[in-house]
Amino acid sequence: MALFDKNRSGSSEPVRVDERLTHIAFILDGNGRWAKKRGLPREFGHTEGAKTFKRIVRYCGDIGIKVVTVYAFSTENWSRPKKEVDRIISLLDEYITGAEDELEENKIRYTFLGDKSVFSAEMAERMRRLEDVSSKYELRLNIALNYGSRAEIVHAAAELASSGEQITEQSLSEHMYTAGCPDPDLIVRTANERRLSNFLLWQAAYSELYFTPTLWPDMQPADVDLAVRDFYARERRYGGVTGK
Ligand code: FPP
Repeated sequence: MALFDKNRSGSSEPVRVDERLTHIAFILDGNGRWAKKRGLPREFGHTEGAKTFKRIVRYCGDIGIKVVTVYAFSTENWSRPKKEVDRIISLLDEYITGAEDELEENKIRYTFLGDKSVFSAEMAERMRRLEDVSSKYELRLNIALNYGSRAEIVHAAAELASSGEQITEQSLSEHMYTAGCPDPDLIVRTANERRLSNFLLWQAAYSELYFTPTLWPDMQPADVDLAVRDFYARERRYGGVTGK
């Protein structure tokens, strides 16, 4: 299958992905540095980061990716200054409202990964409602919010223990927040950091990792293209020995 077209400038450009790249996940990083470089308070980086998020999710859908997951707010991020946390939560809140209004246009199925109980009852309810009303759509967007991967694994194990269900890789997967989603094929982290930071530790067992120096607010479709091209140049062996 032709994945790359020669574009007008003669360079290769991915136009579509295939079933080898179903799920891409992003660890958004560098919002604070983006703002600092411009002499602005960190919150401005998050505002710009939220715009980038919309642009990149739309682009991923355009090139045929079926599942996008973003790490928007970790359980550890609550330790940031209140002003910064308040801005991030209000951006998320606005995003959730807008997502419901634009549902028919965007046709996205939303899932929030993480413990919703820490948010206001009203916000948690809107998150649940968005999950419900969007469940008919195919293109999936998982937003990890108040998410920590170790907590997710403990939560899944506790559910299995209390139900008495047998503990297997499959049953544990089915009790993760990502139940029903394929594991990420590719995890992209921006801003030159090279770690998973408690993100999808269970699901990332065989994910390809891609690190870019680009700060999240600067991320463009062309940067996604680079990550996709890099992914397709790799050989995934899943512990096997298949030759090239
Ligand atoms: C990482 O950059 C970014 C975050 C912890 C928050 C991400 C949140 C948003 C973009 C806001 C809303 C999101 C959506 C989904 C609408 P950093 O602050 O750790 O950057 P730094 O390492 O340069 O300080």
